[in-house]
Amino acid sequence: MIEIRGLEKYFGALQVLKGIDLDVEKGEVLSVIGASGSGKSTLLYCINGLEPIQKGTVLVDGTDVHAKTTDINKLRQKLGMVFQQWNSFPHLTALENVALAPKIVKGKAKSEARDIAEKQLRHVGLGDKLNVYPNNLSGGQQQRLAIARALAMEPEYMLFDEATSALDPELVGEVLDTMRLLAEEGMTMICVTHEMGFARDVSDRVAYFHQGVMDEIGPPDQIFGDAKSENTRKFLANVR
Ligand SMILES: Nc1ncnc2c1ncn2[C@@H]1O[C@H](COP(=O)(O)OP(=O)(O)O)[C@@H](O)[C@H]1O
Ligand SMILES: [Mg+2]
Repeated sequence: MIEIRGLEKYFGALQVLKGIDLDVEKGEVLSVIGASGSGKSTLLYCINGLEPIQKGTVLVDGTDVHAKTTDINKLRQKLGMVFQQWNSFPHLTALENVALAPKIVKGKAKSEARDIAEKQLRHVGLGDKLNVYPNNLSGGQQQRLAIARALAMEPEYMLFDEATSALDPELVGEVLDTMRLLAEEGMTMICVTHEMGFARDVSDRVAYFHQGVMDEIGPPDQIFGDAKSENTRKFLANVR
């Protein structure tokens, strides 16, 4: 599980996370919502060690992400990450893109890496695109390719940072369907998202971030139907 205690994060003098306490259990799907600039992306980067923190602790399966003695590259293999922008290599086919990390990071043999890649591409519905180059995929397919690349490392956790925000509206659904499939399979997921339908239907809990504070967290029914925080209610009234 992921255990966050008293997490404080500054960029220079600017405090971006102001004491976050959060547990994410194995198999849980947590959606993180909130206005732009509220610290949602930074939270994900602090969880996978892409950003140092100034106070508090982040434990992943009991390992302190920010301890000097932690092998962060090894720990990061547990944490698959999918960003807003597609980030595959244009000169490699879909299959080669997905096979890359198993080969290079995990030292898998070429044939095994290709088997893993094919399996994960089928998993995200791209079984017929193995030999296609990313530029010849739609935006939705490229995002599913990015998900397959993350899954090829066999992560224990998946962190999504607005995985559908850069997509044309008609392409959002196929990516959300893939995320929903992973959730149903029991993947532990933290999803920063503006897709309130997804947050409501797929999440076990929804966390609302406001100016670096986790203002409210609870089951979707509570957040969307009976929010305790005035800030949460205002935010949801505006996005609806
Ligand atoms: N690398 C950085 N350097 C300085 N400030 C940053 C950096 N990354 C984010 N910030 C600032 O931190 C705050 C939170 O950003 P972010 O976590 O990206 O918010 P969100 O993902 O909720 O939109 C914002 O004020 C943003 O400008
Ligand atoms: Mg962000």
